[in-house]
Amino acid sequence: MTSPLDLVHDAGPGEQTAPWWRQGVVYQIYPRSFADANGDGLGDLPGITARVDYLAELGVDAVWLSPFYPSELADGGYDVADYRDVDPRLGTLEDFDAMLAALHANGIKVVVDIVPNHTSDQHVWFREALEAGRGSAARERYIFREGSGPDGAEPPTDWRSLFGGSAWERVADGQWYLHNFAREQPDLNWDHPDVHADFVETLRFWSDRGVDGFRIDVAHMLTKDLSEPLPSRAELERIPRDGNHPLVDRDDVHEVYAEWRAVFDSYDPPRTAVAEAWVDPSRIHLYARPESLGQAFNFDLLEADFAAAAFRRIIADNLALATQSGSSSTWVLSNHDVVRHATRYGLRVPTADTALPTRHGGQWLVDGGDEAGLDRDRGLRRATAATMFILGLPGSTYVYQGEELGLHEVADIAASERQDPTFFRTEGAEVGRDGCRVPLPWTAGGDSFGFGPAGAHLPQPACFSENAVEVEDTDPRSTLNLYREALRLRHLFQAAEGLRWIDTGRDDVLHFARPNGWQVVTTFGDASYALPVGEVALSTRPVSEGMLPGEATAWIAP
Ligand code: GLC
Repeated sequence: MTSPLDLVHDAGPGEQTAPWWRQGVVYQIYPRSFADANGDGLGDLPGITARVDYLAELGVDAVWLSPFYPSELADGGYDVADYRDVDPRLGTLEDFDAMLAALHANGIKVVVDIVPNHTSDQHVWFREALEAGRGSAARERYIFREGSGPDGAEPPTDWRSLFGGSAWERVADGQWYLHNFAREQPDLNWDHPDVHADFVETLRFWSDRGVDGFRIDVAHMLTKDLSEPLPSRAELERIPRDGNHPLVDRDDVHEVYAEWRAVFDSYDPPRTAVAEAWVDPSRIHLYARPESLGQAFNFDLLEADFAAAAFRRIIADNLALATQSGSSSTWVLSNHDVVRHATRYGLRVPTADTALPTRHGGQWLVDGGDEAGLDRDRGLRRATAATMFILGLPGSTYVYQGEELGLHEVADIAASERQDPTFFRTEGAEVGRDGCRVPLPWTAGGDSFGFGPAGAHLPQPACFSENAVEVEDTDPRSTLNLYREALRLRHLFQAAEGLRWIDTGRDDVLHFARPNGWQVVTTFGDASYALPVGEVALSTRPVSEGMLPGEATAWIAP
């Protein structure tokens, strides 16, 4: 049995005092694709309220809702037209309150998504800016510049949008505005006091309604130094990302978060935040500090193959980073921006060679025209092993809707049905992220597998039938029941934040123990492994005579 004496990472605050987010399991809902209650083909807030029992039975501690605000859906809702309302297709503020109350009544916290780098081009500020014309105060809230070249007909710089194409768009009177994402997502000017004041108001608006926390979209991009002359794209790439880069991960972004921290801490309990910050690992702790956002996503596992050495290094590095910031780590294997991990792990080409994980969903299948590049069973086997491995770790874990059903990425989506702006802006070179955003299957048959009576807004494959909630619910060996059991057991050992690696003598097997004696073993290769003596409380593949098969995880009770 393990001794708690040589823990590499000391126990965090005790069970009684630790805030929920340090060790919480957060279920990400992509509202448009969860459940459609009003029958318009888009998932909505009443659809979530109707499924609160499902979430409670799954055993999650919190839900994070991707944007549900009024939006023209140029980027799946990450183009927000009004930060303090609900898109009429998704419900009303009263529906939001009812959903929140139902979740809270079941002990489930609620985290909402805040998108501060850009608004929608339908936002009242942007419309005002277009009408008011060049030189107006209204244009100061965004980043407008004159073009270059004769008559200013060329963009101010050669910068590229992260979704492809130019990062500048010209408006009718000839000026250009900056958009790091789609052209319907103009970047805000964070040097402007109105922008600061408005986001504080938004944070208060949702905090007053009772939300427990916020997920901050592209948290590393808000502040910019746009002093002239603006650097070229090639020059930008040469500037070190040390806090002084003109566009990315600037130190002064934390002045914004210090303001927000004062808002979060003015509530009891304090509201939480988690940063989506794609920055160098050496700088992630700046976002996770208690005086900044308090926690940051660690995306390293999204880019790693299913391999023991990579997992071990990532876990050790991130536990150390969490210690450095005073936060807890977050573990993420899937979200609405990346290829589902069951699929990533089933690829016959390693992740590193496919340029996965972001925005390239399904390319390997589309190119091949079939699924020759994917071993579905192996992918799911590895995915559940990886998920049970991270659920055993100290820190909070994010579960993306549908992964608990073992869903794969949907690759087979016709160009005419695609929605992701990356597909259009790259002229199909990147197929985009629609494949992980296909509406969930609730029933084995029926309209859109129970998603809603008006069909699904992205095509569901026939195989979704096997993964439907009603099918997996009653199958004791289903992925759904594995997740339920894991989340139930996790409460028995999660409170003390520590971990001790146990030498396995094998480079394809990882084994660690938690402070109260629970142990987790994962086989990353095909070979089986003799488990330590003890009660196997959970395993992703059947254990026989104490042997854990390959590509599997087991939890051993103390
Ligand atoms: C974040 C979101 C992504 C969105 C982008 C622009 O990366 O997760 O879905 O497209 O920001 O808001």
